[in-house]
Amino acid sequence: MENILKIKDLEVEIDNRKILKKINLDIKKNKITAIIGPSGCGKTTFLKSLNHLIQEENNVKINGDIFLGEKNIKNIEGEILRKHIGLVSQTPTPFPFSIYKNMTYAPIYYGEKDKKVLDKIVKEKLEDAGLYEEVADDLKKSALKLSGGQQQRLCIARALTSDPEILLLDEPCSALDVQNTNKIENLLKKLSNKYTIVIVTHNLFQAKRISDYIAFFLDGQLIEMGETDKIFSSPKDKRTEEYIKGIYG
Ligand SMILES: Nc1ncnc2c1ncn2[C@@H]1O[C@H](COP(=O)(O)OP(=O)(O)OP(=O)(O)O)[C@@H](O)[C@H]1O
Ligand SMILES: [Mg+2]
Repeated sequence: MENILKIKDLEVEIDNRKILKKINLDIKKNKITAIIGPSGCGKTTFLKSLNHLIQEENNVKINGDIFLGEKNIKNIEGEILRKHIGLVSQTPTPFPFSIYKNMTYAPIYYGEKDKKVLDKIVKEKLEDAGLYEEVADDLKKSALKLSGGQQQRLCIARALTSDPEILLLDEPCSALDVQNTNKIENLLKKLSNKYTIVIVTHNLFQAKRISDYIAFFLDGQLIEMGETDKIFSSPKDKRTEEYIKGIYG
């Protein structure tokens, strides 16, 4: 199976403190990989190092290499990299504009001018995110007037407008109720046919329901990575087993 991202000896230091230590792992194409581990273990930092967001913070030092396909991401400019690797954060963050403008923001920024093409992107990506039917008649409505679940799906749709290969999601359901969480989980399952998905989640049941692979982080280290079924049924490391049984946070 093809590895779309290869992470080699990744270390991240913030304010002279090692936050991530020698992380080695591969992300499989068109699969869902869940990153799990207790609060503060470095999940968000890991996600942000995959699309150069961490580099934009102060006092950050990075060692090691990350390959997107054959290309070292060191040699890809942040803005370009983020076209390939989109990030959806924990709380929905629509721009304070219309739904339509949220959806055309990136395409226009990257130079698309043709109204027909833009309309097509808006429709297609809202459909991909399972939101189109709910908003089709009202694309001029402010995105801030959508419900929380709709806003999160809009953020996913917006992340898709630059046609990324990889979608990173940092606890995308933590502010949502069960129904909206279900919708997003079903959506991610479907999207993994087209996109590679890396999702951080605190929710082990969610990881079990939707992921193909699990990476368990503890204290800045990758303890274990494997197929989801195997991680749950026969973890290799005692710490993974303890975490899955609910012994750590
Ligand atoms: N910009 C920063 N400046 C200083 N320390 C930071 C910064 N970002 C993260 N850290 C530290 O790095 C460690 C890992 O943080 P990170 O946010 O990656 O954890 P996490 O696993 O996502 O936690 P949570 O589950 O609570 O979201 C924490 O100790 C945190 O305090
Ligand atoms: Mg986090």
